Amino acid sequence: MTKKFHLGWFMNFTPPDWESQWASPDVADWPAGRFHVDMAKAMERAGFDFMMIEDTVMVADAYGGSMEGSLKNAIFAPKQDPVPLAVLVAANTSKMGVVATMSTSFYPPYLLARVASTIDSIAGGRFGWNIVSSAEDRAAQNFGLDALPEHDERYNVAEEYFDVVNQLWESWEADAVVMDRGTHTYADFNKVHTIDFDGKYFTSRGPLNTIPSPQHKPTFLQAGASPKGRQFAAGAADAIIAIGTGVEGMKEYRDDIRARAEAAGRNPDDIKVFFVVSPTVAATEEEARAAHARFGDNDRFVEKALVGISSNTEIDFKQFDLDKPLPQDLTTNGELGSLLHFMRGDGSGPDQTLRQLAVAASSFGMELIGTPASVADRMELAMDEIGGDGWLIHRRGLTRDYIASICDGLVPELQRRGLTRTEYTKPTLRETLREF
Ligand SMILES: Cc1cc2nc3c(=O)[nH]c(=O)nc-3n(C[C@H](O)[C@H](O)[C@H](O)COP(=O)(O)O)c2cc1C
Repeated sequence: MTKKFHLGWFMNFTPPDWESQWASPDVADWPAGRFHVDMAKAMERAGFDFMMIEDTVMVADAYGGSMEGSLKNAIFAPKQDPVPLAVLVAANTSKMGVVATMSTSFYPPYLLARVASTIDSIAGGRFGWNIVSSAEDRAAQNFGLDALPEHDERYNVAEEYFDVVNQLWESWEADAVVMDRGTHTYADFNKVHTIDFDGKYFTSRGPLNTIPSPQHKPTFLQAGASPKGRQFAAGAADAIIAIGTGVEGMKEYRDDIRARAEAAGRNPDDIKVFFVVSPTVAATEEEARAAHARFGDNDRFVEKALVGISSNTEIDFKQFDLDKPLPQDLTTNGELGSLLHFMRGDGSGPDQTLRQLAVAASSFGMELIGTPASVADRMELAMDEIGGDGWLIHRRGLTRDYIASICDGLVPELQRRGLTRTEYTKPTLRETLREF
């Protein structure tokens, strides 16, 4: 029997699909967060472990050397800051986790440790941090740098960063707050310590000036795809989010992470691996195929996909012929994992044209199109072969009807089969992830 699996949703604080026939009248209000709070409520009803808010911090101009592609298509821009949305989601839910992306390249460690601690307190222990080191020179240029450090060096910085923030979260002993009326003592100063961190990249005196939050440290998410990234994630993360390369590739990835975790002295069951999927479900197979074609198999989608991958890799994909294969020697100092995934397409080999690669990108290495029952069949079978642990829903350009099709169509089918949670039994996100 398949064991239960977890569900998360990887989304962006960007405009919903405002052009769709299903666009709701309040679509213009998205910057206030209402659309995404409603989404979070639907997800909590469906028993998702967490909503993960992606982030990048620039308006990309890689596609065609101009901001036009990003702004015209609203791809990664405009994008609101994930941190206030995480607070809003936390305040409007009571059980589900919420995860915000913050970059080790741009946040000073003390500031990040403080913000994360505060949100975890507001969220009652349901806050997570998606640890990224960012991938775009354009972002670096918004923070006074000419360019980002080289890929592996970014991980060296991230490792030291992770060390500083952890020491800051540990700078208060768990029982430092005494609130003793007898001695008029709120916090015992003997239990709050400076950290006097003096590293290669960072120094910080400490202690943190926030009170320990319910989890003490946020739940850690990471998306390492490269060897260096996998190593970091296996040592640090509570959950890893990954784009799969077919069921076999997903199993290989998860096995590798678990082996690395064990070698690092961790219990591999304490790390949950989530693979990105983008299901399209409808009442019949034909309706689902038609809905998928309307969404992902047309010129508008191809352009959006190319703007997106140009933004993640800072390679100009407008320069290539849509009806020819890509040069096979493309590389990037940006999101290398995303580039390799994109170039793999449907996995059929190097003859695929750029247009075919862009269309295949909407399936994230596993096509899930059909009725709730047939999609649930495939998710169940694949998860059985991979060995665990969860699926991460993602869809570019959200509509309320898409969210409902997942939360009120697909998930109930998974729940009826006993495959996903029907209730939350633990107070914190870390414990929710470890429940099964
Ligand atoms: C599901 C998923 C979500 C990601 N979210 C972000 C993000 O919000 N911001 C960001 O800068 N990078 C994001 N990334 C990129 C990763 O941080 C990382 O750079 C990428 O997976 C490549 O791995 P590597 O750096 O080990 O090569 C994401 C990657 C994946 C697979």
